[in-house]
Amino acid sequence: MKRLIVYYSLEGNTEYIAEKLAENIGTELLKLIPKKSYQQKSTFAKYFWGGKSAVMAEKPELEPYKIADDYDEIIIGFPVWAGNITPPIRTFVSENEQPSYTGYKSHKHLDRYAGEPHQEHPQDGRCHCKDHRP
Ligand SMILES: Cc1cc2nc3c(=O)[nH]c(=O)nc-3n(C[C@H](O)[C@H](O)[C@H](O)COP(=O)(O)O)c2cc1C
Repeated sequence: MKRLIVYYSLEGNTEYIAEKLAENIGTELLKLIPKKSYQQKSTFAKYFWGGKSAVMAEKPELEPYKIADDYDEIIIGFPVWAGNITPPIRTFVSENEQPSYTGYKSHKHLDRYAGEPHQEHPQDGRCHCKDHRP
């Protein structure tokens, strides 16, 4: 099984876990880096701006990254901010929307499973299923 761990870490905790997990289960790693860092001069400012960004469900622009399109599984690691998913992860998920985590049924095999007609993915009109046969 081809797996990828995608993570965001501001202070290193998630990074440590992601690296250990990758070592143990033998996966590739992708670290997400926002173009504008959430690191601030004071702890208060860090919690304020980071918390606000998380609560506002912001999707900050990321440094360029590449992922192959043939992973069987993508594991996502992130710290919780203000009870929310961390903003860089929100960006990644929206840029790489997959039927398995949106519930959108664009795969033939999911269509069969759900008993629904085939539909193209709403963002690019393509089917992302590697088993897809038009
Ligand atoms: C802006 C901000 C908001 C946070 N909000 C929460 C929270 O709501 N709940 C929580 O348990 N921890 C919260 N934390 C703590 C982090 O989730 C925790 O320290 C995490 O291990 C940091 O991971 P990292 O080292 O990979 O950045 C917050 C930290 C920051 C910087």
